[in-house]
Amino acid sequence: MKVQKERGEIAYPRHIAVIMDGNGRWAKKRLLPRGAGHRAGLKRMIELTEHAFLSGAQYLTLYALSTENLQRPKEELDGLYALFRDYFSEHVEKLVKKDIRLRVIGDISLLPEDIVSLIRDGEGRTAEGKRGLLILAIAYGARQEIVSAVNQAVRAGEEVDEEKFSSLLYTEGVPAPDLLIRTGKEKRLSNFLLWQSAYSELYFSDKMFPDFKCADFDKAVSDYLARDRRYGKV
Ligand code: FPP
Repeated sequence: MKVQKERGEIAYPRHIAVIMDGNGRWAKKRLLPRGAGHRAGLKRMIELTEHAFLSGAQYLTLYALSTENLQRPKEELDGLYALFRDYFSEHVEKLVKKDIRLRVIGDISLLPEDIVSLIRDGEGRTAEGKRGLLILAIAYGARQEIVSAVNQAVRAGEEVDEEKFSSLLYTEGVPAPDLLIRTGKEKRLSNFLLWQSAYSELYFSDKMFPDFKCADFDKAVSDYLARDRRYGKV
C-alpha cells in the first residue's frame, strides 16, 4: 500500500489490532442465521490478514472470541467452534507457506479439547514464521489477563515495573498496537487489550466486519498516518 506522508513522522503501523464486530447484524440484515455472518467474517478475516502483512504490518491481533462471548447460545458457539476447527486444520499450512507465525491469546482451557490441540499444533507448525505474527484472541478477556498477571507477580513475591508487568501478559514480547480498529459501529473496547492499547490510535468503522474490505482497512491506515502521536507530550 502506498501512502503519501507529508511530514513523514509516522511509519506504516507495525502492529494493528482489530475488533471484528458486526457479523451477527450482517447476517440479520440478509435474513441469514448468525453462523452465516461468522462464516462471512472468517472469509474477510483471511483476506485482511493477507492484505495487512503484504502492506507492511508486522503484527496483527484479531479479536475472535471474548470470554463474555462464551455465554452465547450453544448453537452459535458450536458454529464458531466448527469455524475454528476448519481454520486451524486447513488454513495453518497457508500460514506456513506465507512465513507467518501464529499465536493464540486467551484462556483456551475454556475451549473444547480438540480445538486446544489444533491451536497448539498450529502454533508449533508456524513457529519459524518470520514475515509477521498473527495473534488470534480467543476466549480472551483483558481484565482476566491483567488479574492473572497480578497474581503471577504476587506469587513470585516481587514488585513489578511496567516492562516486567507487560512480560506477564499474553502479549509478552509483542509491541503495543499502533492502530486499533473496531468495525460494527460500536465505539468501545469491550475488554480487548486494555493495558496494551493505552496509547494506541483508535479507529471506528460503521461497516459490519464482513463488509470491511481491504480498501476500508487502507482507509483506516491512511487516517492513522495523518495523525500526530504525542504520547502525552507536547
Ligand atoms: C462479533 O460479532 C464477532 C464474533 C463474536 C466472532 C468473530 C469471529 C470471526 C470473524 C471468525 C473467527 C474465526 C477464526 C478461525 C479465528 P457479533 O456476533 O457480536 O456481531 P453483532 O454485534 O452484529 O451481533
